[in-house]
Amino acid sequence: MIAIEELSKSWAAGPVLRDVSLVVKEGDVTALVGPSGGGKSTLLRCLNGLELFDAGTISIAGHRLAEGGHPPALLERLRRDVGLVFQQFNLFPNMSVLENVALAPRSVARLPAEEARSRALALLERVGLGSFAAARPVTLSGGQQQRVAIARALAMQPRVMLFDEPTSALDPAMSAEVLDVIGDLARGGQTMLIVTHDHGFARRAANRVVELVAGRVVRQGSAADLLE
Ligand SMILES: Nc1ncnc2c1ncn2[C@@H]1O[C@H](COP(=O)(O)OP(=O)(O)OP(=O)(O)O)[C@@H](O)[C@H]1O
Ligand SMILES: [Mg+2]
Repeated sequence: MIAIEELSKSWAAGPVLRDVSLVVKEGDVTALVGPSGGGKSTLLRCLNGLELFDAGTISIAGHRLAEGGHPPALLERLRRDVGLVFQQFNLFPNMSVLENVALAPRSVARLPAEEARSRALALLERVGLGSFAAARPVTLSGGQQQRVAIARALAMQPRVMLFDEPTSALDPAMSAEVLDVIGDLARGGQTMLIVTHDHGFARRAANRVVELVAGRVVRQGSAADLLE
């Protein structure tokens, strides 16, 4: 589902990704771990076409990315098939929770309003927030907002979900709610690549672990082996 081959990228200050190769198979849940500044977020952003790279190739959800720019039509298809959830939830504050989740199915996938609504409601139920459909995001806790952000990313029925430290802005109780939702997705067979500093969670939810240090993959293997 994801195959990265010898991906390299430098900022003006120097290399940030050095010959990174990794594979995430369909149904795999891979935790991407490693010290701050190691390039985890940069790698995730390259996978979604938000960031360009200098060398190597990415194949993700049936799309192929190479160095240089990506055509707009490719980016559009890529972002339908690859869901991304950040540390900051970035919900649209002027829309209800339901409208946040139904927006992309309506405007990008061009579903009829009623269908987009019912898909959004089903997803809100799935993340435990069915009763908050009409609420504004600002009235929700951080953990609830992050669960809405996950529902919003799932609304395009992506083949792969990418998470960048989805709980690092949350207190432990709220983190647990969000991690439960991600754990459910894992059990449901959703292919995911999750940047996390939470090794306990990685051990529970992930079957594979990749460790990135100073832009290089230093270890990868089964979660059971690497996180012991
Ligand atoms: N837009 C940018 N321009 C220049 N340098 C950047 C940019 N974004 C990130 N960097 C640098 O690239 C390196 C890797 O950053 P990145 O955010 O990918 O690391 P990370 O592994 O996600 O770290 P953390 O665990 O703290 O989130 C850092 O040295 C960072 O300062
Ligand atoms: Mg980061």
